[in-house]
Amino acid sequence: MTKKKDVLRPALWTRRPVQETIAVYADWADSYDEDVAARGYRTPDRLASALAAYASRDLPVLDFGCGTGIGGAALRRAGFEAIDGTDITAQMLEKAAASGIYRETWHSSPDDMGFAAGKYPIIVALGVVSLGAAPADTLGPLIGKLNAGGLLALSFNDPTLQDQSYAEALDTAVNAGRVTVIFREHGPHLDDIGMGSDVIILRRL
Ligand SMILES: C[S@@+](CC[C@H](N)C(=O)[O-])C[C@H]1O[C@@H](n2cnc3c(N)ncnc32)[C@H](O)[C@@H]1O
Repeated sequence: MTKKKDVLRPALWTRRPVQETIAVYADWADSYDEDVAARGYRTPDRLASALAAYASRDLPVLDFGCGTGIGGAALRRAGFEAIDGTDITAQMLEKAAASGIYRETWHSSPDDMGFAAGKYPIIVALGVVSLGAAPADTLGPLIGKLNAGGLLALSFNDPTLQDQSYAEALDTAVNAGRVTVIFREHGPHLDDIGMGSDVIILRRL
């Protein structure tokens, strides 16, 4: 078992098989909110306010990899109201469902995101296509879920930025003419360890 309170250590941000990823987050679910709040988790509000500058707040948003619902709460603070959530870790998802933030939540799997292409004009992936969570090759299929004009708002923390596979997945999508980067900004991610993140907004072409 992963020792609680010890999860936010450098070993979190590493590649691991999907079943281990689920085990890490299943074990962390009960203390996740408290742990990341104590560390000063800044990316959710940065991403939500960036998105609000580019998207109509009455549009439905999918919080992909919603975890316990921290991203949904930030989207609410930024004025988004129609928010659905999905995650592959049932224990994290239960917290999100209980938060009352989401219209609908469902348990997805790495092979089946559980929603139809074109259903959401906005998808958020906050710390999800990320070292220690979903692999870089999740990005292409996620982009494929958007219709032209749809937005994908995501974040890459510093360890993820240093792992070439995520940069390459983004470059591949841009160079193939699938998306254009309409916003990208580096800023604070976890205050207490001085970690940063890029908030990135992509528009589907
Ligand atoms: C660092 S947490 C972020 C959770 C939430 N977005 C937040 O910012 O608090 C990463 C989440 O991604 C989920 N996850 C990992 N791989 C995934 C995948 N392929 N599809 C959906 N969710 C995934 C994990 O279960 C975990 O809840």
